[in-house]
Amino acid sequence: MNTPARGRILLSITGFNPQRWYDLLSKERDVVLEPAGAEDPSIDYAVVWKQQPGILSRLPNLKAIFSIGAGVDHIFADDQLPDVPIVRVVADNLTQYMCEYVCWRVLDHHRQGAYYRTQQANKVWRDAHQPPANEVSVGIMGFGELGRHAARALLALGFSVNGWSRGVRTMDGVSTFHGEDGLTPFLNATDILVILLPLTAATQGIVDHSVLARLRQDGPLGGPCLINAGRGRLHKETDILRALEERILKEASLDVFEREPLAPESPLWNHPRVFITPHAAAVSDPAHLAAPMLAQMDAFERGEPLGNLVDPEVGY
Ligand SMILES: NC(=O)c1ccc[n+]([C@@H]2O[C@H](COP(=O)([O-])OP(=O)(O)OC[C@H]3O[C@@H](n4cnc5c(N)ncnc54)[C@H](OP(=O)(O)O)[C@@H]3O)[C@@H](O)[C@H]2O)c1
Repeated sequence: MNTPARGRILLSITGFNPQRWYDLLSKERDVVLEPAGAEDPSIDYAVVWKQQPGILSRLPNLKAIFSIGAGVDHIFADDQLPDVPIVRVVADNLTQYMCEYVCWRVLDHHRQGAYYRTQQANKVWRDAHQPPANEVSVGIMGFGELGRHAARALLALGFSVNGWSRGVRTMDGVSTFHGEDGLTPFLNATDILVILLPLTAATQGIVDHSVLARLRQDGPLGGPCLINAGRGRLHKETDILRALEERILKEASLDVFEREPLAPESPLWNHPRVFITPHAAAVSDPAHLAAPMLAQMDAFERGEPLGNLVDPEVGY
């Protein structure tokens, strides 16, 4: 009996060097590195990050698209996508990185890191009032894989946790809200807002001045804080800066920006109450992600369904 040939992969990555992905995927399959492979009928799968628009629709026998990240907005930026399944990353390694980032930033705002860093720079020895964690509510906007995992860690640290999602989601110990109607009560009950939404047509620009103004203003931290580790185009940077100046926002931790890299002239860089990381909260590490991706292709070729599928109707 002949063993069926294993599907070939087109690797289309822009913005960083694809070599490690190429090396790891090539251990098991024939990989074509874009710009080679255009219109190649022997290609079954595309593994992509910000692919060139239009290239995927010209692969006549493409069977599935694999995102190398949890988010897929970079795929939907292409308005000529073929009608094939899109698989995104759901992986313990990535989830753990994001959980660490969220806990790190929540604890820094909670334990007044910005205040003490300023004091240290000025050699000032003065302690600040420290509220207990259970008096502080962390609201997670985007209560999916990453948000729910972070919620469990934050509960273990003793915080009160709120979650907001599109559909109804529940979790023991968490106050959950959903949809448009749930947004204001969710925000009103939140001291530290963590953004872990996908970027879609419905969520673009959602973190604006009106959202920030609805955060709990009389909470124990002396003002609400924002943490965005989802996507930069979920927020409006001018609104964040305005809210900081108006003091309706006390501090912000931003990992993602409307335009990346963040422009040198952005006032966010030097703002004393803003903490910046360069889209590094949860990096897709091919050493952990390539093998499960190849295993999914093997399973698919044995006739098993693909997992972690994206719904193109909602865009995530
Ligand atoms: N900064 C980084 O390094 C980094 C790394 C990885 C991922 N990310 C970002 O994190 C995002 C989340 O990843 P994930 O794996 O947790 O995604 P996920 O499992 O798909 O969860 C998304 C959550 O957002 C909710 N949501 C989507 N659209 C909504 C809307 N219009 N209104 C209200 N809630 C909405 C979903 O609601 P339902 O539960 O009702 O579906 C779900 O709870 C990714 O899309 C990516 O952009 C960033």
